[in-house]
Amino acid sequence: MLTLSIIKADTGGWVGHSSVHPRMTEVAQRAVDSARGDLLVDGQVASCGDDLALVMTHERGCDTEAVHRFAWDVFQQTTGVARDLGLYGAGQDLLSDAFSGNLRGMGPGYAELDLTERPSEPVLVFLADKTEPGAWNLPLYKMFADPFNTPGLIIDPHMHDGFLFEVYDLFEERRLVLDLPSELYDLLLFIGAPARYVVHRVVSKTLGETAAATSTQRLSLIAGRYVGKDDPVMAVRCQSGLPAVGEALEPFSFPYAVAGAMRGSHHAPMMPVAAADAHPTRFDGPPRVVCLGYQVHDGQLGMPRDMFADPSFDRARARANEVMDYFRAHGPFEPHRLPLDDMEYTTMPAVAARLTDRWEPFGPEAPATVPAPLPAPATAGAG
Ligand code: 13P
Ligand code: 13P
Ligand code: MG
Ligand code: MG
Repeated sequence: MLTLSIIKADTGGWVGHSSVHPRMTEVAQRAVDSARGDLLVDGQVASCGDDLALVMTHERGCDTEAVHRFAWDVFQQTTGVARDLGLYGAGQDLLSDAFSGNLRGMGPGYAELDLTERPSEPVLVFLADKTEPGAWNLPLYKMFADPFNTPGLIIDPHMHDGFLFEVYDLFEERRLVLDLPSELYDLLLFIGAPARYVVHRVVSKTLGETAAATSTQRLSLIAGRYVGKDDPVMAVRCQSGLPAVGEALEPFSFPYAVAGAMRGSHHAPMMPVAAADAHPTRFDGPPRVVCLGYQVHDGQLGMPRDMFADPSFDRARARANEVMDYFRAHGPFEPHRLPLDDMEYTTMPAVAARLTDRWEPFGPEAPATVPAPLPAPATAGAG
């Protein structure tokens, strides 16, 4: 059994929150190289915006202490580089002082899945910046449940029975497994609210294996304060009873709106880009998604293909720029700015608190301290 682990963290931005410094990537790659053949079967370093991701294969299973500890140590090293270079938000996502057990609740995000390697094992690794884990809900629904996106659901006998969706309620820390297609409407009831309900895993009923896994941590819910966005990762296995590569990429031809741009406080369109363009600058956005394609073989990742480096996504990018103009024109108004519940985890409540004493009731129960009505205007010509 092979395990694919994608573990990521923002350990410092170059410049601001726009990118990872090449020296951080070098340090991480060196660490991964030295673990290859020992702890890891294979490993690579990738990034999207200011988030550094370790893409690793190994044989130790999901949630394994040694693998999580290794990632934690790498992130400590890249934080050190960020501090030395004075990069922005050095160690931003490392919420804990010390590692214990596994990375759950410690800040870094991770998507992991166990797989029995098929004779040909195409896997897509998606990395996003300036958004939140629920940003994968819409594309996962389209890939694994929408026949308008994925004709394989109709015509491939191995897909026709559908998939199980495991959904996390991040507020209540509980989970629910829904059986698609029969429980499609129940699924949409929840995952249409991506700030709270997040698809954690999709399982093929026919193959009995995990087809997709996402990172589901919400940093603000862990820390109870604003600490940057969660910038999630996702792995999707493709072909032979799972969505074709093109079916898994197709949802990103629509630049859907996600939460997370600028101070983690704004909705903006998701823009699919080549790795070289994964550096959100305008209004710290628009949020980016990169897709690295791997043909996993004997546990080796091989050379990644840059799946959105394709002119067929030009229209999605152009549309994302138009939608960004539209959102930006709202300035500080919703729905560009996130709703108040989400703004709880920003610095906004501290500013609002300054005016607490100046608010006065005005309803029927209002005390007599309510200011008297203004005097009636003088009648023209009187006196
Ligand atoms: P600071 O400049 O105070 O960090 O806030 C802006 C920002 O970039 C939020 O992460
Ligand atoms: P990151 O979560 O990518 O660090 O972005 C934080 C932010 O506030 C950007 O405006
Ligand atoms: Mg950052
Ligand atoms: Mg980021």
